[in-house]
Amino acid sequence: MTYNINEKLIWMSTQNALAANAKQQPLSDWEQAKLVKRIKSLLLQKDAVLVAHYYVDGALQDLAEQTGGFVGDSLEMARFGKLHPAKTLIVAGVKFMGETAKILSPEKRVLILDNQAECSLDLSAPIEAFSAFCDQHPDRTAVVYANTSAAVKARADWVVTSSIAVDVVNHLKNQGEKILWAPDKHLGHYIQQQTGADMVLWDGTCIVHDAFKATALATLKEQYPDAAVLVHPESPADVIAMADVVGSTSKLIQATQTLPNPVFIVATDNGILHKMKQVTPNKTFIEAPTAGAGGTCESCAHCPWMAMSTLQKLQQVLQNQDNEIVLDEAVRNKALIATERMMQFRERHVNKKHGVM
Ligand code: 13P
Ligand code: SF4
Repeated sequence: MTYNINEKLIWMSTQNALAANAKQQPLSDWEQAKLVKRIKSLLLQKDAVLVAHYYVDGALQDLAEQTGGFVGDSLEMARFGKLHPAKTLIVAGVKFMGETAKILSPEKRVLILDNQAECSLDLSAPIEAFSAFCDQHPDRTAVVYANTSAAVKARADWVVTSSIAVDVVNHLKNQGEKILWAPDKHLGHYIQQQTGADMVLWDGTCIVHDAFKATALATLKEQYPDAAVLVHPESPADVIAMADVVGSTSKLIQATQTLPNPVFIVATDNGILHKMKQVTPNKTFIEAPTAGAGGTCESCAHCPWMAMSTLQKLQQVLQNQDNEIVLDEAVRNKALIATERMMQFRERHVNKKHGVM
């Protein structure tokens, strides 16, 4: 059975984000320096800390690090926000990341830079349809990707991010559990392949990763025989099959430091190149193709919702305390159970592995 993945809503939200981004005025160096100075002072005044994802504008990532904040993958963002003592968390990323922060830190004010910053995976799994899916499979453990609403997390047994998904499902499989997975079908398929678990999959995709093309990637690989291919597991199976490394944003960044290759072909949002170039400045990075010769792309390897986070909006949000994440307390409490399972699993696992997952 195929589940309605809300295609129209995703298309409308994508167009809305692309149109809003096209209206953004680029800043001169002088304007940017002035804005950064103002933001630094507001962060102190408001007892706020900036937590950014690797896909947002490089200036936001740098500012997070310069001001005692954090830039990382979605699991590490959640962990940092939970542990940091600031009264206000400013999440530079998309809405589900703000919601995850609020689930874990209800005592803090959590602000996001644009409240229209959605995610096609989150939009693909409305709570009513997801609940019906769970009702049809009462014998299965519901494991959902962090890229979901608080309501979906509240209905699930486990929340996972890409950095921990394979390990969690492996653990559940070893306990004899059968899995219901939502919403990313490509990541679900990858986890199934890696673990051999019995899984039923929701039919959602990330509009950015779903657009990577295996045939064009094969041509690119021929042109760069020394290149290693780095792939986020939200990509289609035929793209993953060509990868030298598959993993979370953190794992892909780490691979640029540990692999000897001079060139990397990167199949994930191109916002990640900012950090990759910082940590390995002597290497060459090439974006994986999102279309074959003469083809077109919509997101063009950059998430339109991540691109909604800008320095200008950060200043406004800090100034006016806009875009606060507010969750129904009963929903938050239920969502906390599945989210805390992930956090505790992570603590046990990292202690065992001592490394990036
Ligand atoms: P990571 O958890 O790997 O950072 O991925 C989050 C995401 O939204 C990828 O598209
Ligand atoms: Fe969602 Fe894809 Fe954007 Fe990540 S890149 S936030 S999965 S739409």
